[in-house]
Amino acid sequence: MARVFVARRIPEEGLAPLRVAATVDLWDDDLPPSRAELLAHAGGVDGLLSLLTDRVDDELLDAAGAQLKVVANLAVGFDNIDVPACTRRGIPVGNTPGVLTETTADLAFILMMAAARRLKEAIDYVREDRWQTWGPLLLLGVDVHGATLGIVGFGRIGREMARRAAGFSMRVLYHDVQRATPEDEAALGATFVPLETLLAESDFVTLHVNLTAETRHLVDGRALGRMKPTAVLVNTSRGPVVDQQALFEALRDGTIFAAGLDVTDPEPMPADDPLLSLPNCIVVPHIASATHVTRGKMARIAAENILAGLRGERLRACVNPEVYERVG
Ligand code: GLV
Repeated sequence: MARVFVARRIPEEGLAPLRVAATVDLWDDDLPPSRAELLAHAGGVDGLLSLLTDRVDDELLDAAGAQLKVVANLAVGFDNIDVPACTRRGIPVGNTPGVLTETTADLAFILMMAAARRLKEAIDYVREDRWQTWGPLLLLGVDVHGATLGIVGFGRIGREMARRAAGFSMRVLYHDVQRATPEDEAALGATFVPLETLLAESDFVTLHVNLTAETRHLVDGRALGRMKPTAVLVNTSRGPVVDQQALFEALRDGTIFAAGLDVTDPEPMPADDPLLSLPNCIVVPHIASATHVTRGKMARIAAENILAGLRGERLRACVNPEVYERVG
């Protein structure tokens, strides 16, 4: 039987099909394996089910050995994987697109609304017994309805944000390296603008790009400086897309109004990170796709990717399809 290493406890929807077809070595823990443990467990496997906390690079692929047939990431993002290194070895890399789109957009919208209406401060206010009366000036925030939403990265999740925005009568701007078709723009009620325009005109800026060399620190001090002092930044993409030191300064100095972050740099964010001392910054621990149903679907796709790879078939979701051209 083929051997598969699963680098964390995952939902049964993924484990069950793997166990039928392969000998599964499960890292049965809520915390990731250390690097040494990962390298050791990867040795000799035919399939590797990785998480975004596992770095898959030449060193790991060498440790795994030449029999490795497939890497399947339990995530839509795959910046933890050196994809060209896998491609050079003819190894297809799978991810889990599609099934987490709406769940992730839901959380981005939640963060947007929570930051706009100062929810963290309001909850603390009650919990800390500071609520004395209804106050005309108490905890004033900014309106979501009718505001301008700027979507940076107009892929699956970005487009779901546009759909949600329609229900709040928002004006939608977007920026992407690739412009949507006029039909999609019309259907989603979204207008393409240069990034500088989006930053300057949006009341809410939400990030939905992959982390690449080009998008690292895309939102830096300069970008934050272009935003409105009443604006809210939301990041559910990857932490390094935002320059966190610059964000801290912008939130502290009132350059922007608030931020909602599902992703940070590094992860986990240490509890003494200066951003956590700010009342206008909401941080949650990378949970955008964290619902029972969605994580189950993600696990199932990751398992299907592994099983297809073991059989030498095309993966259901493959980030390096060029691997198939290469091996014929
Ligand atoms: C989570 O961040 C994912 O990429 O699926």
